[in-house]
Amino acid sequence: MKILITGGCGFIGSNFIRYILKNRTEATIINIDKLTYAGNLANLSDVEREYAPSRYQFMKGDIGDKEIVEDIFSGSDIDWVVNFAAESHVDRSIDKPAEFLQTNIIGTFCLLETSRKFWLDPDSDITKKRLLHISTDEVYGSLNDKGYFTEKTPYNPSSPYSASKAASDHLVYAYYRTYSLPTIITNSSNNYGPYQFPEKLIPLIINNAIKGKRLPVYGDGKNVRDWLYVGDNCSAILAILERGLPGQRYNIGANCEKRNIDIVTIICDYLDKRLGLMDGKPRRGLIEYVPDRLGHDRRYAIDASKINNELQWKPSVTFEKGIIETIEWYLKNMAWVEDIETGRYRQYYMKR
Ligand SMILES: NC(=O)c1ccc[n+]([C@@H]2O[C@H](COP(=O)([O-])OP(=O)(O)OC[C@H]3O[C@@H](n4cnc5c(N)ncnc54)[C@H](O)[C@@H]3O)[C@@H](O)[C@H]2O)c1
Repeated sequence: MKILITGGCGFIGSNFIRYILKNRTEATIINIDKLTYAGNLANLSDVEREYAPSRYQFMKGDIGDKEIVEDIFSGSDIDWVVNFAAESHVDRSIDKPAEFLQTNIIGTFCLLETSRKFWLDPDSDITKKRLLHISTDEVYGSLNDKGYFTEKTPYNPSSPYSASKAASDHLVYAYYRTYSLPTIITNSSNNYGPYQFPEKLIPLIINNAIKGKRLPVYGDGKNVRDWLYVGDNCSAILAILERGLPGQRYNIGANCEKRNIDIVTIICDYLDKRLGLMDGKPRRGLIEYVPDRLGHDRRYAIDASKINNELQWKPSVTFEKGIIETIEWYLKNMAWVEDIETGRYRQYYMKR
């Protein structure tokens, strides 16, 4: 089983590589990653030590680079492609959208074209092939107080990030409809867990709260996100690769809606107990409301009954457990955070 993972040095990709190598002994992985600011070789140093070169191989490269992607396909008989590679931060997409269009749309297009070229060849066993495109619930837009996103909810993206993901999802589905390329899409809710780049809400708040820095919260703090532990997303992705059907999309979520402000207070209160008060004061005092994000979606909530019923997948980590594991991971890995904050991680080279 040869699997091409794209964007494997990021948050979800690195967790998925570790998960599948451990749980499927027949899997061998090629990880192509451009190593943008969000890609960190340190996320996989344990994988590199344990599994390279026989079951794990890293290649620095851009998914939009046709030559590199075709070289990978001609060098190995790739069975599955799992496309995690993306520009993924909404705020950055508002400041500078161009890279989002390039990687998320054109990069995905390049993977589709290469898969089509190699997999639709008569010598290739198309029944074994899968291209799984990792997308987001943000493509559905914003909900009011009621209702849930189902797989039938029309796309209505708000940010350049979600619009670029929506465009790539449409292309992925079009390749199934037009060429019968065996593509599948996942639309998952917000992930949290180890190795998340400390610009995203949960790791940002954890790190700032540990250090006693201000805790910025957008608008009134009442925007709602539906949280999914990254390990549960990994088990869902594997279930979809093994049992999901080409041409389908699957929402992934854990039925765990939380307001942003509640996430922040949960983290503050846990750290107050775990580390003691900050200069004699509760960390909640560090909360600072800041002007709202442009076009900020109010609420996301996933109806995951399709994956629950059709693939018998269920999340296994409650938010109460997952958030403590995540906070404890960051406490243990402050050197990892510091390497990012100082920029040292850009010079990181693995010792093989
Ligand atoms: N994090 C979430 O909560 C979440 C939720 C739903 C969906 N998603 C989707 O999951 C995927 C992974 O998200 P993440 O949070 O791990 O992102 P991330 O930003 O942590 O990682 C992205 C990775 O992709 C790599 N990359 C970027 N451009 C590339 C290119 N042109 N070629 C090759 N590699 C490139 C980066 O170097 C990085 O390693 C994304 O597609 C994202 O849209 C994320």
